[in-house]
Amino acid sequence: MHVLLSFAASLDGCLDDTTPERLLLSNPEDFDRVDAARAACDAILVGAGTVRADDPRLLVRSAERRAERVALGLAPSPLRVVLTGAGGIDPEAKVLTTPGAETLLIEGRPDLRAVLAELERRGVRRLMVEGGSAVLSAFLAEDLADEIQYAAAPFLIGDAAAPRAFGRPGAVLFPQSPDRRMILAESRALGDVQYTRYLVRRGHSDEELLRLTIELSRSCPPVLKAYSVGAIIAAPDGSVLSTGYSREPRYGLGDPSANHAEEVAIAKLGYEDPRLRTATLYTSLEPCSPRASRPRSCTDHILAAGIPRVVLGWREPTLLAVCDGVERLSAAGVEVLEPAGFAAAVAEVNRAVLSQD
Ligand SMILES: NC(=O)c1ccc[n+]([C@@H]2O[C@H](COP(=O)([O-])OP(=O)(O)OC[C@H]3O[C@@H](n4cnc5c(N)ncnc54)[C@H](OP(=O)(O)O)[C@@H]3O)[C@@H](O)[C@H]2O)c1
Ligand SMILES: [Zn+2]
Repeated sequence: MHVLLSFAASLDGCLDDTTPERLLLSNPEDFDRVDAARAACDAILVGAGTVRADDPRLLVRSAERRAERVALGLAPSPLRVVLTGAGGIDPEAKVLTTPGAETLLIEGRPDLRAVLAELERRGVRRLMVEGGSAVLSAFLAEDLADEIQYAAAPFLIGDAAAPRAFGRPGAVLFPQSPDRRMILAESRALGDVQYTRYLVRRGHSDEELLRLTIELSRSCPPVLKAYSVGAIIAAPDGSVLSTGYSREPRYGLGDPSANHAEEVAIAKLGYEDPRLRTATLYTSLEPCSPRASRPRSCTDHILAAGIPRVVLGWREPTLLAVCDGVERLSAAGVEVLEPAGFAAAVAEVNRAVLSQD
């Protein structure tokens, strides 16, 4: 299961102040971003403290997003999950009484791994944890987070008693080492809020880096006529040198809405970077060749950069173009690997494009 932790915090890392009124840290643009993230998950989990403090409904607000979920055969909003310990929650809490999604109340402070196993049994593959402080810290302490979505809000709380996003005293956060350096998957300003998405990595096998490219591809602004692709360039020791995703705003390549993941990742380093000559390029989809939107295809860029090794998740289906990227790379002496087991996940991210006739 993929577990993403989502929260808004002040610049000094607080989730709230200590007054009884709810402090709205986020803004309408960021709430809409959270709404899209909710719609892309199978379940949303919060702790009892959040229900007591904020009384959230935990539903997808946008009627359009609810309709898209229904068209895919899903419930209009994801399953709502509340963890409680001894305290319980008010039976009138909105999460229990507002219709629109099923709610699962898990009592007795169970082991988080057991909670995830139970959710998996119910078909949950993507879980969004929306707080609060104790629950976010608990997921990190158990090393159960795969992704962090952090909205930095223009406030300074300056109160040691205010709830913090992480690191509540006594919480043991997952061991940090250069190996655990997270991958910046996205960063953008939403009005006065800075939104940042980080991916947690577990090791540096080809399979792990390929899995991360697919997660990265979820940062692509969706469009109906082009694939969503993620690319990572890594050094032989597995350290990440560069990343890119389709339509990532990166200027100097032409219209950013035509940007491809691999060309963005290469452009961030520049052809002259000597590390490219020993690097591996991981990409969720076969590098394009030929290409209609620009003179240089991603295959051309890989060859021009002298990248000796490419690992890809899925060969491009003959839907938008007939691609011969793998053949051209192999013919030029590039080692191309296509580990099994990733095609379904790439197709899932691109299901809107693939379902067109
Ligand atoms: N800015 C944001 O994005 C955001 C998001 C959410 C919440 N918040 C804020 O965060 C604050 C609430 O945080 P919080 O720490 O008090 O509450 P919390 O993390 O929402 O809930 C903690 C409670 O969850 C229950 N629980 C069950 N299993 C647990 C486990 N394994 N680990 C930890 N808790 C478990 C316990 O309930 P019992 O008490 O019943 O034992 C515990 O007291 C509020 O101020 C809220 O406004 C902010
Ligand atoms: Zn391309």
